[in-house]
Amino acid sequence: MTDNKNNNSNSNSRNYSNNRNNNKIYFIGAGPGDPELITVKGHRLLNSADLIVYAGSLVNPELLSNTDAQKINSYGMRLEDITSTMVEALGRGEKVVRLHSGDPSLYGAIIEQIDELAKYNVEVEIIPGVSSLFATSAALGIQLTLKGVSETLIISRPAGETLKEDDLKELSRHGATMAVFLGTHTIDEIMKTVEYPPDTPVAVVYHASWKDQKIIKGTVEDIAEKVISAGLTQSAMILIGGVVDPVQYRRSHLYSPQ
Ligand SMILES: C[S@@+](CC[C@H](N)C(=O)[O-])C[C@H]1O[C@@H](n2cnc3c(N)ncnc32)[C@H](O)[C@@H]1O
Repeated sequence: MTDNKNNNSNSNSRNYSNNRNNNKIYFIGAGPGDPELITVKGHRLLNSADLIVYAGSLVNPELLSNTDAQKINSYGMRLEDITSTMVEALGRGEKVVRLHSGDPSLYGAIIEQIDELAKYNVEVEIIPGVSSLFATSAALGIQLTLKGVSETLIISRPAGETLKEDDLKELSRHGATMAVFLGTHTIDEIMKTVEYPPDTPVAVVYHASWKDQKIIKGTVEDIAEKVISAGLTQSAMILIGGVVDPVQYRRSHLYSPQ
């Protein structure tokens, strides 16, 4: 298997800095969808940008509607083309924003962009965002770490080019809460792979925080059928574990009378 880390020789030349010069691109977390769920800092930078390169359909177009900046959807673009587009704009003295859905650090493929930009001596400042994972827990009204149920959260994705099927199986043996990104289209496989007890609660939240948000609840045994019959194939979070529908939990010490 190819190890991207080993292929990359730029790790020492990444420039994450607070240096406020003009040779910088802002990587901003757009949040999960609701345009009010971007940070104040992200919003300010977005609205003062000249060029916004945004990461496809998971960035709500409403976020882009109040700015005169040039907007480019990076969906389907090659890494090198994304980079040169941004570097050229920077060279013209423009303020450049790279807008990622949710939080850029989760499945955002940002390191390869940062390394590519480093070749042009371009610095990056990352502005975090609200991940869709947290919009999902908010939509469900739950706590991802719950005393007496699970206080460990595993974040993963389905098997594919970068992850073996065994990995998800192995991870599920911990009995921790598991959030699976990028897995809606293959939910059937995921549920067959994981080794949670069949009655373990599962929630699938489509477009968490968007106006058309949908929540489907079930168990490891029956969730795939429900999701498939609802016609959901993408843009959803899969959350597995007792925290989704807690029957018994323990109070935290935080608010105990003692
Ligand atoms: C490329 S990843 C980007 C994740 C993003 N960086 C984040 O922190 O939410 C895309 C996946 O995130 C999940 N996702 C993104 N936005 C979502 C939303 N509003 N509701 C549910 N899942 C979402 C889906 O699993 C989707 O396939």
